[in-house]
Order: sequence, then structure tokens, then C-alpha cells
Amino acid sequence: MARERLVLAYSGGLDTSVAIRWIQEKYDMDVIAMTVDVGHQGDLEGIQQRAKDIGAVDAVVSDAKDLFVKYFVWPALQGGAIYEGDYLLATALARPLQAWLLVETAEEFGATAVAHGCTGKGNDQVRFDVSIKALNPDLRIVAPVREWRLTRDEEIRWAEERGIPIPVTKESSYSVDQNLWGRSVEAGILEDPWAEPPDDVWEWTADPLTAPQEPAYVEIEFEQGIPVALDGERLDGVTLIERLSKLAGAHGVGRVDHIENRLVGIKSREVYEAPAGVVLYQAHRQLEKMVLSKEQARFKETVASEYASLVYNGQWFTSLHQDLAAFITSSQRHVTGAVRARLHKGTCRVVGRSAPDALYSHQLATYDTGDQFDHAAAEGFIALWGLPVRTQAERQQLHRPAERPRLTGSTSVE
Ligand code: ARG
Repeated sequence: MARERLVLAYSGGLDTSVAIRWIQEKYDMDVIAMTVDVGHQGDLEGIQQRAKDIGAVDAVVSDAKDLFVKYFVWPALQGGAIYEGDYLLATALARPLQAWLLVETAEEFGATAVAHGCTGKGNDQVRFDVSIKALNPDLRIVAPVREWRLTRDEEIRWAEERGIPIPVTKESSYSVDQNLWGRSVEAGILEDPWAEPPDDVWEWTADPLTAPQEPAYVEIEFEQGIPVALDGERLDGVTLIERLSKLAGAHGVGRVDHIENRLVGIKSREVYEAPAGVVLYQAHRQLEKMVLSKEQARFKETVASEYASLVYNGQWFTSLHQDLAAFITSSQRHVTGAVRARLHKGTCRVVGRSAPDALYSHQLATYDTGDQFDHAAAEGFIALWGLPVRTQAERQQLHRPAERPRLTGSTSVE
């Protein structure tokens, strides 16, 4: 009888490499290695070859960069989703996509199980497992790293005993995950929240100290909340992010140092690099300020925070997500226009914005000639706006501060 098949989400690193053999031994299954290319995944052909060398019956790569941008990154940007004010969710956004492709591939290959290399301590295991079960509850999930509980040294010994070629990566004490949208670094010295991240954690961003003296200006055009052009040149999403990432990174923009509340109850210290994301979030937000009403903007902040939690917490394939996404899409219908940002020594500052459907009106805002604001109407407005305040002051004796500074300098009043 043919062995049952399993599709493994394969990165080419130590854990998932060892997992190929471990699954064969412990579960007696054929392993198909699948690598989802969401950007910055390394030498994909080399990774495929390694999987086969270790014993995978097949090794496939799925180029999902366009899908990642279109269905995950842009919606998050449009929604303004930032976890706990700092994290642009690069890893969290890629997981449901990887889970979905894992499920699709398993179905295609007639596999009965899927596997991923997440530990039992992080958010990613939750995102994978919850998404996989939502998409196909019949698939069995194997999580070797969560199950084997080996230390790194034990794992290397286990691999050596079996002659498994150990991937030659430069010795790093960090745990890194990266894709087109961002890079995440944890562990090692970073586990001391007092320790400043050493220079070697940063790979995409220059040290702001040694970044160019001269600022760079970049103009980003949006259509309905989606970035479509950089400095007047129309680009597909993947290219736009790659280019902006290089530019902003060269100016030291995009570094984040974050104490984060994990879904599994742990606080962790994580360092992120998301140069393109940091610029695009600021630019998008500033464009929204031109076109959204005060009430839309306020309500959208609530949605943004809910959306960020949902993405972080692995609830991508949910009904609430569909509802929030519908609001977000609708909210973007006038978010079209251009934003100019200045990049300089680690900072990104929006310095100009323009939008055809802007609610900003020069005639209403100006203090110069051409002012069309009805100054006289202000008086009546204030009388009604302030009415409840006056009533409260009259009836409920509102307190003034107990102390006040003494006046000085008066010579005429005794
Ligand atoms: N804390 C981030 C998240 O939960 C990143 C996790 C993966 N990062 C890593 N360095 N292995 O989305």
C-alpha cells in the first residue's frame, strides 16, 4: 500500500530540514516539501534541491509574492492595521496565505496531512493551525518542532547521526522571519529588553547615524488606498515595495524595537525592519486625512485596531474579517492622490499631499483674501455648542484649579 502523504511548509532552514526526516521516521509518511515565496526566501532552487537530498519525495515552490501584496499587504495598509502601535504584521499577514497554499497543495497531491516548523511558544503555530482547520478540517496537522522538543544542539546531533546535510547558515543567535513586507528578529541578546539591539540585527536599514546627510524625497501615488506609482513611475505592487524598501532602508527608515504581547500570553521583545511599510503607512494615513471626514477617520481607527488584532491573532479566515474588510474597502473609494515624503537619517516625514476628492478646501481654510468661511455664523454655533457647558457651570458649581500663579509686574493695581 502506498504511504500516506504529507505536505510540509519548508523554509530550507535547520528545523524544517530535520523535520523531513523526522516525519518520515515518526509518522511513516512521504513528505512533499513546499516553499511559499513571499519574498526574501533565499535561493529557492537550492532550497528545493536540499529538500530532495534529505529525502522529500517532491519539492515545490509557489511564487505567491503578487498574491501576498494584493490580498494581504494592501488590505492591511488600507485598513491601517498596526499591532500595538508598532508592528506592521509582516509575518502575521503571510501565515494565512502560507496555510492556504499548504492546504491547496495537500489537496492537489492527495495528502492527508500538512506540517509546519513552528515552535510551541509563538503566534505562528496558532495562525497556521487555526487557518488550516478553517480551510480543511480533515487534514491532520503535524508540528515537528512543537512535538520533538529538542534543543538546538540535540537537533543538530539527531541530524548528524542520520547524515542529514545541515544547512550552512551563518551562525546566528537570532530567530529571523522575513518576507517582502518586513523582517522580524528575536532571541539572543534581544531577550534582554534593556540591551540596545546590536548592529548585526539590522539588515535592511542603514544606521541613521551613517545614512546620507542629504534627505531624499519620494512621491507616492495612491488609487483607492493602493500605492500605484513611485516618483511618477507606475509599478506593480511587488516592485514598488522592493524599490521603496531599498530607498527608505538606505536612509535608515523602518527600524522598530517592540515589546509585544503574544497571543500565547508571553511578552516578547522583537525587532522589526519594515522600511517600505513605514513610509507607505504614513503616506496613506496623511492622504486619508485629506479625504475622510472626521467621523469616518475616527471610526476607522477602531476598525484598524480590531483588524490588527484579528490579523495578529490568526483570525484571517473569519466572518468578522469579511465584515471589516468590506468597511475598509468602502472607506478607500476617495483615497486617491499623491503624497510627498522626506526621508532623512531614520525619519520619514510627509511634507506634501494632494487629492482630487479632497475635503480640504483652501477657500474655507485660508486666512488670506478669498476666505469664504462664514465668520458671523460662528457666534450662533458657539452659543449652542457651549450651552450644556454653561448649564453645568451654573447648576453644578464646576471647580476651578485650587491654585494659580501670582501675577507679577503690575504697578497700577493695588
Ligand atoms: N512576533 C511576530 C509575530 O508574531 C514575528 C514572529 C516570527 N519572528 C521570528 N523572528 N521568528 O508576528
